[in-house]
Amino acid sequence: MKVLITGIDGYSGWPLALHLLGRGHDVVGVDNFVTRRRVKEVGSWSGTPILPFPKRQQAVHDLLRKELGFHKGDLADYEFVRGVLATERPDAIVHLAEQRSAPYSMIDVHHAVATQVDNLTGTLHLLYAMREVVPDAHLVKMGTMGEYGTPGVDIPEGFFEVEYRGRRDTLPFPRQAGSWYHWSKVFDSGDVMFATRIWKLRTTDVMQGVIYGTRTPEITHDKLLTRFDFDETWGTALNRFIVQAVLGLPLTVYGQGGQTRGFIALEDSMQSLRLAVEHPAEPGQYRVFNQFDAAYSVNQLAEATVRIAAEYRLHPTIDHPPDPRVEAEQHYYQPIHEHLPALGYRAQRTLDDGIRQIFRDVIRFRRRLEARRHVVLPTVNWRVADSKPAIAARLPSFPGPSAPPPTAASPPSSVDPTV
Ligand SMILES: NC(=O)c1ccc[n+]([C@@H]2O[C@H](COP(=O)([O-])OP(=O)(O)OC[C@H]3O[C@@H](n4cnc5c(N)ncnc54)[C@H](O)[C@@H]3O)[C@@H](O)[C@H]2O)c1
Repeated sequence: MKVLITGIDGYSGWPLALHLLGRGHDVVGVDNFVTRRRVKEVGSWSGTPILPFPKRQQAVHDLLRKELGFHKGDLADYEFVRGVLATERPDAIVHLAEQRSAPYSMIDVHHAVATQVDNLTGTLHLLYAMREVVPDAHLVKMGTMGEYGTPGVDIPEGFFEVEYRGRRDTLPFPRQAGSWYHWSKVFDSGDVMFATRIWKLRTTDVMQGVIYGTRTPEITHDKLLTRFDFDETWGTALNRFIVQAVLGLPLTVYGQGGQTRGFIALEDSMQSLRLAVEHPAEPGQYRVFNQFDAAYSVNQLAEATVRIAAEYRLHPTIDHPPDPRVEAEQHYYQPIHEHLPALGYRAQRTLDDGIRQIFRDVIRFRRRLEARRHVVLPTVNWRVADSKPAIAARLPSFPGPSAPPPTAASPPSSVDPTV
């Protein structure tokens, strides 16, 4: 099968490319390297060193004896998107190329707008280009479990049966996102569902849990490493906890720490995306997969980090600063995940294994963490309209209020995208 991955240079796009190549698929990617630029914008970098993309392609050639196709470009450019689909004519498109940080989207109005404009534009361009050029291709679109929020009932996979005033119907389950980023995913889901219905496309919307880990079986050499973000804006809570433990800082559990989410190991996320690709939706079918293995609270993540840190002679303490986000700190959380297991999905990794694997990798690159230790603590606050002054207090070069918004339409950055 020929698979196009948008966002191939990203945390999950890169290991997905390696995984699909290893399973005999042809892979071609698209990226504009905006995540590298945006992580640099907030003063951080990947905790693991990641090669510039041409060197990544070379490493695939040298180490795996495979060829990886690539088109550099922005999904904001419709002619580019249509041109790539016309040239490559993929059987499946895995769409990962979006702004994926909730705190980044909450920095100020410009970051909120850039997030929603970029994400919705890229998805709409892909949908239109598919209709025009490859209407039979299968779109696997990355959503997030965060679209659902934390309702007080079980969370079904996209749809549920409802009875209202004596009538029954199967309807989309209500979405209650918790950031401008998560709302962009909700709006995306509506667009994918609508395009599927009117144009009879084949689509799968993956409500992805939080991914953790630095390794998949295909990452056999440092030249094949994927990125690992640990700053307050781009790093997940677990990534930040592990880095805090390595740096001798207390783990910062926001508020009471009862916030509970679904989690999945990197290699299991790759397994489930491959299964979605290899079992396409039917024409006109919009499927929703909840993709996670187990739910953990932030307190449970912190406790697991402390327990496993001791194996590395690290003994961090746990702090509870006020939660900078607006979210329930204790709540019910019971999502259903049956569709992927029905396709053969079986988890290969436990959380403890994943945490050990991250410790092993980031301890080796401790100097990269030391060099950016100031970016771990929170500055972006959901309750204020402009968090730039707080960011600028630790990063004087952070763009001031008059800076142009970092939209996809901005002129190419002078920043070297490969740093
Ligand atoms: N990582 C997680 O834990 C997680 C959880 C839930 C959902 N997701 C979703 O999965 C997807 C991939 O996440 P990730 O962690 O790999 O993110 P990432 O930021 O590491 O990767 C995204 C890649 O897409 C590229 N990109 C972004 N906008 C682009 C555009 N307009 N044109 C071309 N390239 C563009 C970026 O440069 C980057 O390389 C995202 O849609 C994200 O919302 C991720």
